[in-house]
Amino acid sequence: MKQFTSAEMEERAEAILLRMTLEEKAAQMVQVPVAYVTREEALLWARRGAGSFLHVLGDDAREIQQEALQTRLGIPVLFGIDAIHGHGLNQKATIFPSQLAAACSWDPSLVEEMGRVTAREVAADGLHWTFSPVLCLGRDTRWGRVNETFGEDPYLAGELGYAIVRGYQGDDPADGEHILACAKHYIGYGEAVGGRDSCDTEMTYRKLREVFLPPFARAVEAGVATVMTAYGSIDGTPFTASEKSLRTILKEELGFDGFVVTDWDNVRSLVEKQHVATDLDEASLLAARAGNDMMMTTTAFYESAIRLVKNGKLDERVLDEAVRNILRVKIRFGLFERAEQRGEQEKLGCAEHLASALRLARESVTLLKNDGVLPLGNSVRRVAVIGPNADDIRAQYGDWTYFTHPHPKPKYTAARPYVTLLEGILTLAKERDVDVSYARGCGVMHEECDDLDAAVNAAKNADVILLAIGDVVQQAGEYRDRADLSLSGRQEELFLRLRELGKPIVTVFISTKPLCICRVAEESAALIVAFNGGMFGGQAVAEAVFGALNPAGKLPISFPRHSGQIPVYYNNLPGWHGEKYVDLPETPLFAFGEGMGYSRFAYSDLQADAENLHVSVSMTNLGIRAGSETVQVYLRDLVSSVLTPVKRLVAFQKIALQPGETRRIAFELTRKDFSIVLPDEQTVVEPGDFLVFVGGSSKDEDLISTKISLRE
Ligand code: NOJ
Repeated sequence: MKQFTSAEMEERAEAILLRMTLEEKAAQMVQVPVAYVTREEALLWARRGAGSFLHVLGDDAREIQQEALQTRLGIPVLFGIDAIHGHGLNQKATIFPSQLAAACSWDPSLVEEMGRVTAREVAADGLHWTFSPVLCLGRDTRWGRVNETFGEDPYLAGELGYAIVRGYQGDDPADGEHILACAKHYIGYGEAVGGRDSCDTEMTYRKLREVFLPPFARAVEAGVATVMTAYGSIDGTPFTASEKSLRTILKEELGFDGFVVTDWDNVRSLVEKQHVATDLDEASLLAARAGNDMMMTTTAFYESAIRLVKNGKLDERVLDEAVRNILRVKIRFGLFERAEQRGEQEKLGCAEHLASALRLARESVTLLKNDGVLPLGNSVRRVAVIGPNADDIRAQYGDWTYFTHPHPKPKYTAARPYVTLLEGILTLAKERDVDVSYARGCGVMHEECDDLDAAVNAAKNADVILLAIGDVVQQAGEYRDRADLSLSGRQEELFLRLRELGKPIVTVFISTKPLCICRVAEESAALIVAFNGGMFGGQAVAEAVFGALNPAGKLPISFPRHSGQIPVYYNNLPGWHGEKYVDLPETPLFAFGEGMGYSRFAYSDLQADAENLHVSVSMTNLGIRAGSETVQVYLRDLVSSVLTPVKRLVAFQKIALQPGETRRIAFELTRKDFSIVLPDEQTVVEPGDFLVFVGGSSKDEDLISTKISLRE
């Protein structure tokens, strides 16, 4: 397909814009929620020239597109969908680990591949645009949507965000294999007070720029086509109404040249939830002026915008600018040339795509504790698989799949292929002639169908117990925050009953996010974190249990010991009197960056060259197995004019080493890595001394350090 130059695109957009009526412009700025309108209404919106529709598949989408193409200007519509970890709302699609699980891989190339595969499947379905990635940070684990983030760290989220945007959009988004990405939710959504979904954020613009903006800046560098406005507010101004965040920072400073779409009904929320506008006209005025180009769901924007322009309250040039942004994206994406194009349906869930989901699931398995029980040796002849999440594909998938979002849908059953933990263990155990017994023991949520005695019975003759616990989708997602992050239902009681048997317990944590599992972690012989591993999460963990896989995942998020310890992210600011609670240590249960395998790595000879900002270290595999380790580089600014974090990730590399092998690993830092944001919101580099830490996690004991003095 012909690639347009920027000038050609502008010209083409301008030519269409010149012919558009006020009504057509207002309609182009509307995104229609197909599930909430009748077929006739959807077709009417297509005739009016609505810019986009969301959550529509197959023939319904084709009918809408036909209608749009027959209008006076024939501007094709964009179809958007939440393909969050794979094209999960389609039953035939490949389902990848959740973003949080994927982030455990610390592997941008695999995350890019997840984007590429998802794009192919979405495109094969005739759709154009995914509302992904989430670039919010998961710093308050009470929040219901932590599973959708790449974890707590701005740098890691930025690198993985960059990778997945490249995967979705490719070099040429118009090649029929790629789709448009959407960096969301701009901005600060995860930082809502108390972890309360969509609430106000206690944030300043200085902090916003230092902590929350960098992942979005990386997405813009990757060429992200769209950005979604967050629900929340900053210092009393809803992000939907914030000219500063949308126009000044995103569009002018970062140079974002795609279009901004609001989140679900944000315009109405200005009236009904946030109470900063008396009616939809006023809300529409605020939203359009702030720089939102397309209004998700709020179809009333159409009438409001027309009225506002006609009565002189809104300059039509604001609409022109928004429509120009939308048209430019449609042109760049080749939508006019291939509006009706559908990819090859056979690509959905094809062998190559499934292999890619398995690869990522394997790289995401994170081993946090091992007293030597893993990998299971030849002396283990009987394994008991126990627990509510051992054979529950809903819990393994997590949110945003056809049968788990927004509420578990009993009418759907999971389509094969997928492998639960129990199934993975059964397959590998059979090959090794190991006996397996299974009992669920209890539910995750209620004292329902609980049979702890049956679990104890099933485990009593086992050499090793595998216990799969965690949470379920009803406990996470939009509108579903938790105040208490302890294990729900009778899961801990189940653990304690099994513990009485005196056998080693390997706990497998299948969960949307970190929970407070102190006792279980302390008294388990080994602990594996899988989060929501997707189709092959169970297989990947089973391979790690039997040693076919040497786990290499690292936590992208810290585990609190107690809900009252939140926030517990590693890159906190110094100055806490006492530095710990009276009743709890300051350290998390498990720290950002933590994760081990069946090899052991040693670091030595750290060098940091202030001249060229070159950092290098030697790393040796002391184990007897080949293995991979993610080497992490952190910085601490020793004296700065504003408080800076005790540590800040600035680089990482995943390195595979043979047993006994030593390699020199080099990192090229830039002056930007040393920058800070001042109270006047300027980003500057202050010369002086910094500590450079290198090692296998953010914990002091896993790092070696040296000083680097940055010159003017
Ligand atoms: C609301 C969610 O916040 C957002 O992430 C999602 O993309 C839209 N709904 C569309 O489903």
